[in-house]
Amino acid sequence: VIYKSAQELVLDDVFVELQGFIPQARVYLKLEHFNATGSIKLKTALHIVGHLERLGRLAPEVSELVESSSGNLGVALAMVCRQKGYRFTCVVDPNISESNAALIELFGGNVVRVSERDENGGYLGTRIRQVRAILESRPQAVWANQYESPGNVEAHFSRTAASVFGTLKDLDFLFVGAGTCGTLMGCARYIRHHQLRTRLVAADPVGSVSFGYPPSARHVPGLGMSQRPPLLEEALVDHLIRVPEAEGVQWCRRLVAEHGLFLGGSSGIVLAAMQRFAPRIPSGASCAAIMPDGGLPYLETIYNDAWLAEKRLADDEMPALRGAAAVRMRRRALAGSEHA
Ligand SMILES: Cc1ncc(COP(=O)(O)O)c(C=O)c1O
Repeated sequence: VIYKSAQELVLDDVFVELQGFIPQARVYLKLEHFNATGSIKLKTALHIVGHLERLGRLAPEVSELVESSSGNLGVALAMVCRQKGYRFTCVVDPNISESNAALIELFGGNVVRVSERDENGGYLGTRIRQVRAILESRPQAVWANQYESPGNVEAHFSRTAASVFGTLKDLDFLFVGAGTCGTLMGCARYIRHHQLRTRLVAADPVGSVSFGYPPSARHVPGLGMSQRPPLLEEALVDHLIRVPEAEGVQWCRRLVAEHGLFLGGSSGIVLAAMQRFAPRIPSGASCAAIMPDGGLPYLETIYNDAWLAEKRLADDEMPALRGAAAVRMRRRALAGSEHA
């Protein structure tokens, strides 16, 4: 397959069957890390920028796109802006993977870091306050605003969901993680628009306030919000499964050990939600789940034993991964050489 440009490298038809994950059902994972920027967010970036372009709000060389991101959208917007000639500034928090922060800069984006927690113990409120301050101080700045942009939902209605239902006919359950809820609502609207019988199951980490539960500190980027997501229409979601982050991390590591799949933290949370929901899945059912990114950006965090211990996300059930201990040793060695 020859693609015309990197932006067209949206590999939307990649699924893998996960044998034995739910013994009585077939389980298909939609893998999103083969997209050019390593995550599902390339589609979100393209549609958000497309939406602003249609409104005439972006001018090459002049406009500066600004966004608050947990990482993946920042990388995708940085790449798209570079290609289209827009300047880009990304407001990030301490949960961003350092490789994603570096990638934003490699693509020419400007990274602004916030470190103060908001009133709900997360960083979203602080990030958005920082975005607003930038918008006020620079007249050429335009907010991408993934939290409200119709482009966010449209991306997943027209691409992600279309690919899921085009590939997997007669799906009984679709599991989707909830961040901004662009993916979730894109799928929900597709199901409703096409009057499908598929039940939509949302996965949300414990500590997220998205569905009205109390806030607490979270460490895995991508899923959960510390403010209610404006895009979320709860009535379009059939089931909600809340998952402690530690359980999601454990499933990421089990996937490496047992299935040879190396995925990101939010994927583990969605897989943990599937396991929690499994007793309600009838025999012979067919299930799909969206896996937003791969494991590489998380080598230093969820695949690192020392980080898990520090964040109290480790538990006794966690499969030991030799490489995860090695990451710890490499870090110690590096720290040692810095002090030398
Ligand atoms: C790794 C990862 N997973 C899940 C999500 C959530 O997707 P959405 O914002 O469409 O709800 C994001 C969004 O940033 C993400 O980066």
